[in-house]
Amino acid sequence: MDKRTNASKKAAMAEGNTLQLAVVLPTYNERKNIATMVERITAALQGVEWEVVIVDDNSPDGTSDEARQLALTNPHVRVIQRIGRRGLASAAIEGMCSTAAPIVAVMDADHQHDPALLPQMLAALESGEYDLAYASRFAEGSSTEEWGRPDRVKASGFANKIANKVTGVELSDPMSGYFMLPAETLRADAHRLSGVGFKILLDILATVERPLKVKEFPMNFAARAEGESKLDQTVVFEFLIGLYDKWLGRIIPTRFALFGTVGAMGVAVQLGALWFIQGAILRSHFVYGHWPKEINFIAANSIAAIIAMTFNFVLNNELTYSDKRLRGFGPLVRGWAQFALTCSLGLLTNIGSSTALVRIGFHEVAAAVIGIILGSVWNFALSSKFVWGKY
Ligand code: GDD
Ligand code: MN
Repeated sequence: MDKRTNASKKAAMAEGNTLQLAVVLPTYNERKNIATMVERITAALQGVEWEVVIVDDNSPDGTSDEARQLALTNPHVRVIQRIGRRGLASAAIEGMCSTAAPIVAVMDADHQHDPALLPQMLAALESGEYDLAYASRFAEGSSTEEWGRPDRVKASGFANKIANKVTGVELSDPMSGYFMLPAETLRADAHRLSGVGFKILLDILATVERPLKVKEFPMNFAARAEGESKLDQTVVFEFLIGLYDKWLGRIIPTRFALFGTVGAMGVAVQLGALWFIQGAILRSHFVYGHWPKEINFIAANSIAAIIAMTFNFVLNNELTYSDKRLRGFGPLVRGWAQFALTCSLGLLTNIGSSTALVRIGFHEVAAAVIGIILGSVWNFALSSKFVWGKY
């Protein structure tokens, strides 16, 4: 083992502390990977006092049970099982805040990150020369060949470039999921991290005020051992959300911005549906011949509104509240009905407030816009609490 690590370990022990390092493993469906991960970490960290914190989002494959099984016989292993929540970044933050170890690391649990780098990273931090150590897939001497995903290599390179531009961070791989830093640095700013998406390292680098001295370790980014990546379907979306969150999130909260965007799309859907249904009614002689035009319009517009509302519900469920997504027939139907109810209340707020504003002399357009904003805020507040909220 490195001399410096020994020295600072001795210093820590003199103060009566022995725990040096916590390795946080965020997991979602990694049941088959974690036992071997813990074995490899154990082998890598000979002579270091460490613990592993497995932060599992209640994986359907029973990763939490497997983690507890490991913890029963291995006191180095701790488990956090989160219920009703999803997200790599927030899992990593909670894991890092859950330990008393002075230094914390985060790495993937699927064997793509080699634990053999841990002691070198630890030595870099314990020497006091660096504020953060991380493993880069793109630094001199690294490799992504084994990964076998040229598409992802390209996408990551591109994302890294944008990230460097937006945040002013100059690293070869700010998207890396393998890094280590003093727990104190993390805790000091934990409340300001966005916790959205995958980009936890980038988030930390962009959030801390004083520039960190970073030590880069080239790594061979291996192929995943068991199971599949959770990043593929939503990677681009999450990335954009993460950037938005850092950029404008403090002015207009990310969730509200998403909710508003979905709402605006809903308006387009409603108009499109109305146009389509009206056309269909006109073409069908049967209905047109029997009912007055006004009734036709009311019927068509009501159906269009329900279609738009359903569209908004589905999109909000998939995107805005992807971390609290409702699943299964019962919850979806209940959620839809609750969403319909909150939307009706939002509509009342919208119409009510704009009418009142016109009455006290506001310009009609201004009154309508304010009505839309108030209605949306109301919709957002109610639906985040009653449809997707468990808090
Ligand atoms: N608790 C929790 N909750 N863990 C999660 C979640 C989640 O919602 N989603 C993914 N994880 C865990 C996985 O179980 C795995 O241990 C780790 O986070 C990385 O997830 P992968 O699904 O394997 O990601 P990847 O290999 O496609 O992405 C890699 O590249 C990204 C940058 O492009 C990883 O190295 C990421 O960390 C990295 O940001
Ligand atoms: Mn992976």
